[in-house]
Amino acid sequence: MHSKRITIRNFNTKDLDKVIDINRLSLPENYIPAFFLDIHKNCSDAFQVAEVNGDIAGYIMCRIENGFSDFKRFRVVKKGHIVSIAVRSEYRKMGIGSALLNETIKVLRRFAVNECFMEVRVNNFNAIKLYKKIGFEFIRRGHGYYQDGSDAYTMGINFSN
Ligand SMILES: CC(C)(COP(=O)(O)OP(=O)(O)OC[C@H]1O[C@@H](n2cnc3c(N)ncnc32)[C@H](O)[C@@H]1OP(=O)(O)O)[C@@H](O)C(=O)NCCC(=O)NCCS
Repeated sequence: MHSKRITIRNFNTKDLDKVIDINRLSLPENYIPAFFLDIHKNCSDAFQVAEVNGDIAGYIMCRIENGFSDFKRFRVVKKGHIVSIAVRSEYRKMGIGSALLNETIKVLRRFAVNECFMEVRVNNFNAIKLYKKIGFEFIRRGHGYYQDGSDAYTMGINFSN
């Protein structure tokens, strides 16, 4: 088997169709193209893709928002919100999800972001395991958060410690 070369790089609008494909194949939460582009406009460095031998294997898109801290009561902070992350099924379990998250965390720290969070289905055990491994912790459970009525955990990581 030939070795796989994984590269993490900034999303380019030319990648949009491939990213939309991966999103549709991987998750029930799908969005119109303008939504992806809006997130890209919010912080282009926090929208990353993973390439394996030139093929787009996964993406992560993250928005920077100001909002109430998940860690310090009634404090308004700069937060990274990971809106979506997915890796094509044939490229999973190779460390790509971890690499995308770690790169995004580096970018957020560079932008002096204090915290990062995302929502995840309570039964998405693989994703939860990945987030815990990176250092995210459970913040709260959102009842009926998803369109199909499923609950979500909000998971977060605090960079200010
Ligand atoms: C969740 C997802 C992004 C993980 O991507 P990935 O590239 O496979 O992740 P990694 O290879 O970096 O795995 C990192 C860790 O996550 C956990 N993990 C990921 N996939 C797993 C699986 N199938 N079984 C068990 N643990 C798993 C493990 O702890 C793994 O670390 P390890 O290999 O040292 O055991 C990928 O499974 C995916 O795209 N799923 C569908 C979309 C989705 O659910 N996105 C998250 C929405 S909130």
